[in-house]
Formats: sequence, structure tokens, C-alpha cells
Amino acid sequence: MKIIQLSDLHIMPPGKALYGKDPLWQLDLALQHIEQHHSDLNLMVITGDLTQFGDESSYQALKRRLQRLDWPAELLIGNHDNRETFKKIFDKADYEDEFAHRSFTSNGLLHILLDTHKINHDEGELCEKRIQWLERTLRAHPHVPALLYMHHPPFDAGIAGMDRCKLSNPLTLLNALQAHRGRVLHIFTGHLHRAMAGQWQGFSVSCCKSPNHQVSLNQADPVLVYGADEPTQYVVAFVTPGQCLIHHQDYCNQAQTFSL
Ligand SMILES: [Fe+2]
Repeated sequence: MKIIQLSDLHIMPPGKALYGKDPLWQLDLALQHIEQHHSDLNLMVITGDLTQFGDESSYQALKRRLQRLDWPAELLIGNHDNRETFKKIFDKADYEDEFAHRSFTSNGLLHILLDTHKINHDEGELCEKRIQWLERTLRAHPHVPALLYMHHPPFDAGIAGMDRCKLSNPLTLLNALQAHRGRVLHIFTGHLHRAMAGQWQGFSVSCCKSPNHQVSLNQADPVLVYGADEPTQYVVAFVTPGQCLIHHQDYCNQAQTFSL
């Protein structure tokens, strides 16, 4: 199946810019590029920081954009989001508890969308109740290859200011996944506003840039996080029960393609 990952939209209230750009316009550029090149996608997942301020008008603007799409879009929340407002606007009847996590099967795969939001904190968490939900979900589909989607990465990115606000309890997640090692095909993350891929504790992981603004790979400053006006991007993943291959697709400042 073809999965498109977008992350960290940071949609602003209508008419407001963020770092000199209109995030809604930036999202439109991404959606136009996806429509042009990947309209055969099976699933789009947006891995959190849907909005900058978690306000109703920003979620309404995003909802109107997504309603025009011809393909399904699944949404996660991040540290910039507001869980209650998000659930009120998007009105997902299939959330089974107070969190914004859910799972479904598609194309022979189990898709698990985690909620790592920690109210009034930039760092993420998976509390006991959310970990129990994850363990129940994995146990309910014992032989199905699984994909995890989460806003906060459990790994260190090598950027001190970002690593301080990653998932605050990665070992708790690791304990929950240990029994399922081998069938968790990949963990998609956001939050870092950078393209990266590798492995964490033996699990395959990646992160996706933002349609609006990126984070600089600045290792000199132990405190501050620096923005970077690098090309915008989304991820195209080709996934079967036996592989998960990630393409980091830039779509702005992109040179014309040509024959080789
Ligand atoms: Fe973000």
C-alpha cells in the first residue's frame, strides 16, 4: 500500500502567518503535489501539531481543507494541539476513550495511531492507560504486521533542545513493544521537523519535515532550537507485510525533473 505522511502543519487562525508563511497555503501546496503525483495513495496520516495554538478556528480551517480530498486522512495530535478541541471539531465517533488514539486494519496491516499529547507540556508521554490500550490493541491482532504512528519520537535526534521534549518515557513504550518485536514494521514520528530515519532499540523509525518550517541540525547550542528555511516535504511509504520503504519527498524549491 502507498501511505503518505504529513507532519507538523501548525495551522494558524485564518489569515495569520507563522514564521513568514501561511501554514494553510503551505498545506495546499503539499496537497496539490500529492494529488499530482500520488493520487493513488491508500492512506494519509498527519502525525500531529495539526495547529499552532489548538484553537477551534484553526481546526475548522483544516477540516474544510481535508473534506475536499478524495482520499482518507487520519490525524494524530501533538504538543501544539488541544485534545478536547480537536475531538470536538473532528467528531471521531470511533475514539473509545478520553484519548485521541485509535487503530484499524487495512491492506493486511495493523495501523496504530498513538496519542502522546501531555497537557501544557512540549514533551510527550504515554501514560499507563495509553500503554494498556496499546498492549490490548497489539494482542487483539496477534499475527498482523503493525505500523505505529506517533507525534513525539522515542529516540534522541542529536539536537539538545528537541531531545528534551521527545517522548518522556521511551522505555515504557519499549517494554510494551518487546513481545511484538519482529512484527512492528515501522514507527512513523513527527515533532522534529526534520527528515531522518534509522533504528531505535532495534525498531525501524523515521521522521518527516513540516510543510511550513524546519528545525536546524544545530548541535552547538545546548538550549535553543533554531528554525531553518529548508525545503518542505512529505513522506511516501511503500508498505507490504514484508517491507516498509520511506521516500522523503521535497515538494517546494524542487527542480524540474529531467531524463537521464
Ligand atoms: Fe511541530
